[in-house]
Amino acid sequence: MNTNTHSPASDDFVKMVEVGPRDGLQDEPRLVQLKIKLDLIQRLVESGLKVVEATSFVSPKWIPQLADADELFPLLEQRDDVSYPVLVPNVRGLERALSVNVKAIAVFTAASEAFNQRNINCSIDDSLARIEAVMGMAREHGLWVRGYISCVLGCPYQKDVPVSEVVRVARRLHEIGCDEISLGDTIGVGTPAKARAMIKAVASEVPIARLGAHFHDTYGQAMANLLTCLEEGVRVIDASVAGLGGCPYAKGATGNVATEDVVYMLHGLGLNTGIDLEKLALVGQHISDLLDRRNQSRAGSAIVKARMS
Ligand code: HMG
Ligand code: MG
Repeated sequence: MNTNTHSPASDDFVKMVEVGPRDGLQDEPRLVQLKIKLDLIQRLVESGLKVVEATSFVSPKWIPQLADADELFPLLEQRDDVSYPVLVPNVRGLERALSVNVKAIAVFTAASEAFNQRNINCSIDDSLARIEAVMGMAREHGLWVRGYISCVLGCPYQKDVPVSEVVRVARRLHEIGCDEISLGDTIGVGTPAKARAMIKAVASEVPIARLGAHFHDTYGQAMANLLTCLEEGVRVIDASVAGLGGCPYAKGATGNVATEDVVYMLHGLGLNTGIDLEKLALVGQHISDLLDRRNQSRAGSAIVKARMS
């Protein structure tokens, strides 16, 4: 098994998973040039991020924004200390990923039937069967595998999502062999007590060290929700530089919580990330300017402003 996964080594280290180039750019209204994507990923790595989700090998008909995955991946600077997981929805996606020597993948499903149908056109159980097929092949090739669960705190279509369903899907992903399971508040509707209850319930079935929090910030609750997860022992956090993105199959959902804001909070709590926050803030401003969008990171904007004054 590939061990280059950058697992949290100690209780005061938080593994940040940068998802901006994938989750962020998949929802950009305009197609972003390949060279801008490559430059963004390089700058993120130079700011100290060790895990940067680079792109998706999904159907280009579904996500045209990431249709250049096959071209992009071989152009990334390969380093022993950095991993670039990619999203893979099915065996076809895995074959594409293997042909460019990907080492880490992310499979994805949801705790909401309605969302899963719209996102990947199948039921939860069918997607788990697809994931098993992908996992079998991934293991043969020594890949590291993350499993995502969307809608863990609510769904844009069916609204309430029972915690028991989140636990069931997490248990299955764990049994199938996912190295890490990322719990997605896809539309950012969760609040701290719900987030805590959800994490506690999932952690009763899957070791907490394998769980990650992936919170979008639509209702401004992501930081508070993350704090409760940290208190429960979560040490893997997904975030997106400058708060890029959303989800094309969750209308109205905004981007992930901004990486700069999370890192600012973590460093303030005395937790380590290995990230140079000032450098990261400049990356966030740079990509926001290039894409002509407002920098969604409060900490990032403040750091950039302070440098200019
Ligand atoms: P489908 O239409 O049901 O499947 O899509 P299909 O097998 O009938 O394929 C349709 C066409 O796509 C065919 O081409 C296939 O060959 C092709 P045609 O014959 O029409 O020319 N195809 C592919 N092409 C390239 N790569 C592939 C691939 N697979 C099929 N891998 C499918 C099913 C899963 C493919 C589709 O629904 C899909 O790609 N969905 C991806 C949606 C997506 O990427 N959503 C965003 C990511 S998830 C997310 O953001 C949530 C997360 O951030 C966590 C959170 O916040 O909650 C992770
Ligand atoms: Mg997401």
